[in-house]
Amino acid sequence: MNTTMLYESKSRPWSSLDVLRVVSPGDITLPADERAANAESLWEDLCSEYDAENLCLELERRHAAGLDFSEEFWSLEKAWRRDEFNHYLGFRRLYSLMYDLSEDEIARRVSSRVPNFAPFDDLLRDEFTLCLMLAYDELATTRSYAQDIPFYRSLGHPAIGEWIVQVRADEALHYRNAVGVTLARHADRLAEAPAILSHILSLDLGSAAYEATFIFDHKGPTFPPEMLRGCVATVIEVLQRPQADADSP
Ligand SMILES: [Fe+2]
Ligand SMILES: [Fe+2]
Repeated sequence: MNTTMLYESKSRPWSSLDVLRVVSPGDITLPADERAANAESLWEDLCSEYDAENLCLELERRHAAGLDFSEEFWSLEKAWRRDEFNHYLGFRRLYSLMYDLSEDEIARRVSSRVPNFAPFDDLLRDEFTLCLMLAYDELATTRSYAQDIPFYRSLGHPAIGEWIVQVRADEALHYRNAVGVTLARHADRLAEAPAILSHILSLDLGSAAYEATFIFDHKGPTFPPEMLRGCVATVIEVLQRPQADADSP
């Protein structure tokens, strides 16, 4: 049996808490009104990072029920799951520092939400559509966090800016890994990609409520529809490129 993997996901383990350990509440100099204005969007980012865990648990359930995933996909999942939880820990620390809420209380609130994957059932039934969805989603997150960098740098401690730069770099790696698995394992289905990505985009633009699924938590000014359309166009273009290699996002 050939056990050579066709694509091994890249990963770069690090610790959000190590980076943010030097920050204390007194270091945050952002004015109170600006803090309040950004509370909701920080909370949403914190939740979607945590919700990668919900999505992984859903995939484990589907796997136990008979859905097959390639070794290449599991290598992506392992690196991705670890990174997103590390991002969640960083957002949790930052939120606690900025809004005087204990990390235990944040964890309690975040984990008490119940995910609903029913609206995306058709995307979770096979590895190919899942990879396309992840490529699109991670590229959107990469571009959104890139826009957020000046905000994090304005909070009052340089470690916070360094932290979001590392988070953004992970999201870019997740995008490249999703493209890598797609090309390595599903090259025979690439002709289907534009239609599936267009379906993904319409689900994202039309989704009403976000229900703790990690997928399609794209609300607010850093996720304008033009940016989301641009992400679909980039993924299609990268998959169609001869000897394709994931572009820098
Ligand atoms: Fe993340
Ligand atoms: Fe990610």
